[in-house]
Amino acid sequence: MRNDDIFNESKLYMPGGVNSPVRAFKDVPMNPPVIKSGSGAYIYDEDGNKYIDFVCSWGPMILGHCDEDVVKAIKDTSERAISFGATTELELQLAKYICTTVDNVEMLRMVNSGTEATMSAVKLARGYTGRNRIIKFAGCYHGHFDDFLVEAGSGVMTEGIPGSAGVPEDSIKNTLVAQYNDISSVEDIFKQQGSDVAAVIVEPVAGNMGVIPGDENFLKSLRALCDENGALLIFDEVMSGFRVAYKGAQSIYKIKPDLTTMAKIIGGGLPCGAYGGRKDIMEKLSPLGPVYQAGTMSGNPLVMAAGITTLRKLHDHPEYYVHLEKLGKKLEDGVRNIAEQKKLPVVINRCGAMFALFFTEDSKVKNYSDAKKCDTGIFAKYFTHMIKKGIYVAPSQFEAVFLNVKHTEEDVDRFLQAFNSFEI
Ligand SMILES: Cc1ncc(COP(=O)(O)O)c(C=O)c1O
Repeated sequence: MRNDDIFNESKLYMPGGVNSPVRAFKDVPMNPPVIKSGSGAYIYDEDGNKYIDFVCSWGPMILGHCDEDVVKAIKDTSERAISFGATTELELQLAKYICTTVDNVEMLRMVNSGTEATMSAVKLARGYTGRNRIIKFAGCYHGHFDDFLVEAGSGVMTEGIPGSAGVPEDSIKNTLVAQYNDISSVEDIFKQQGSDVAAVIVEPVAGNMGVIPGDENFLKSLRALCDENGALLIFDEVMSGFRVAYKGAQSIYKIKPDLTTMAKIIGGGLPCGAYGGRKDIMEKLSPLGPVYQAGTMSGNPLVMAAGITTLRKLHDHPEYYVHLEKLGKKLEDGVRNIAEQKKLPVVINRCGAMFALFFTEDSKVKNYSDAKKCDTGIFAKYFTHMIKKGIYVAPSQFEAVFLNVKHTEEDVDRFLQAFNSFEI
């Protein structure tokens, strides 16, 4: 079957033809290609088109598609262990690996997605502090948990809806929204409701309103405000973990969150998530403590095997991060030069292997209000142009461009050539 036939028939059986809304390409004037296979930096659709993939499954595929070691780990493990719902040594290996690698994670719990990680971390913070309120930032996305669906960035933004139907007022009454990179907006909330705030949850490098790195002083002040007010600081590193640096964004900023949420890369491309942090907090989780959270598939052997293999490979090849930075810089400089020459209204933000190109007349994009000023009409034209040239980027102005270690300088040149021939 061809791309359009599969997509059209999918619509009969899955809402919008997809299992996650952004895949439906609603913001751009075309049907999504239906992806058949991937290898290294490339993906192939059912019509036989080849694309250089700059989505990388929205982040996880940092080693590229079907990395031979990850494939082998999954194959070998599947011969003897698919799922037991019981303790395995593989879980220990991945948990120990992450705890001894990520500086502020002493203990962790595996779950099955980023959403599960963030919602469980918030529940734990509430259980630990005995408080209900949380502070999140406009434009930050932490998954589809009801309490987070207020000014929730990318997917919700692309759909053009303010939050989501089906979320009772009661679910969001404890969610207080502050402005990213604006510490005074957080101070104001703490002044009024500080003693009720269980946690501040933040993407240290925001990746769901395009890419917006947190200002160092902003993040440091968040740490201080949480300490002053007895609230926990949760870094949502679902996207940035093992991507912007091996030890995550917290290692770049040198800030100690109380809890960290992870997913994407730690599962090596299989469904995964984890949350972890200070031992005294993690020990409040059932069966040790009173905060209940569980999962039949959590710590699944295949996922653990793919995750360990991915993280070990990243560890054993520090040159990968050098390569990613080099390509990221080349992409950033190249796009900036082309935009200047062609007088395109573009702002570029980047942190390591996460990159965003905003179509805006402004000179900076530092928060959600800035991001929302982008011209999504120009983005749609850019997107259609790029995909026709075989460059697969996310079909939304508010998603990141991701690099993987199999991308080459030639792949980045191809991106730049395609961008160079783009006319508004
Ligand atoms: C920062 C962040 N947190 C949480 C999530 C939710 O993760 P998942 O889609 O695995 O539920 C995402 C997803 O993109 C994310 O980027």
